[in-house]
Amino acid sequence: MSESRHSSKSVYALIGEAAIARLIAAFYRRVKDDPVLRPLYPEADLAAAERRLRLFVVQYFGGPSDYSAERGHPRLRMRHAPFAIGRAERDAWVAAMLAALDEAQIGEPAYSEMRQYFENAATFLINRPDLTLHEPKP
Ligand code: HEM
Repeated sequence: MSESRHSSKSVYALIGEAAIARLIAAFYRRVKDDPVLRPLYPEADLAAAERRLRLFVVQYFGGPSDYSAERGHPRLRMRHAPFAIGRAERDAWVAAMLAALDEAQIGEPAYSEMRQYFENAATFLINRPDLTLHEPKP
């Protein structure tokens, strides 16, 4: 039963390196013009950030582990601690990634697997839940 529901091949094996590179390039084109996201990214040139995310996504979805060879254990919560991520920032990140998945024409079953991961991981990276509550300060 389960074999017929989805392939056991990794997303990387299904779509390959070039499709992941197109996806991450499409994502950063959006970050560059996004009024919520762009101010969070510290570097003037987003090329290095684009490369780090690309290597991470390749590795996470079953490709070569160049990300960890260069950067060590991902520790995403820790690495995002310097950036204030509330609900609005999480939603802007996810919206840019979903648009990039469409632009890069990532097909099923890779599309759903990637979408689910990005939505969940971005929620897990919220580190300023108070940013969206707008509670009056005492
Ligand atoms: C699925 C969710 C996400 C994943 C998988 C992810 C992944 C990554 C990775 C791998 C890096 C590079 C870490 C390093 O090696 O130093 C990074 C950096 C960064 N992320 Fe995320 N991230 C996610 C969500 C977010 C969100 C929601 C925000 C804010 C809206 C965000 C903002 C940043 C910023 C500002 C950097 C620094 C850029 C740089 O690498 O120079 N990320 N992220």
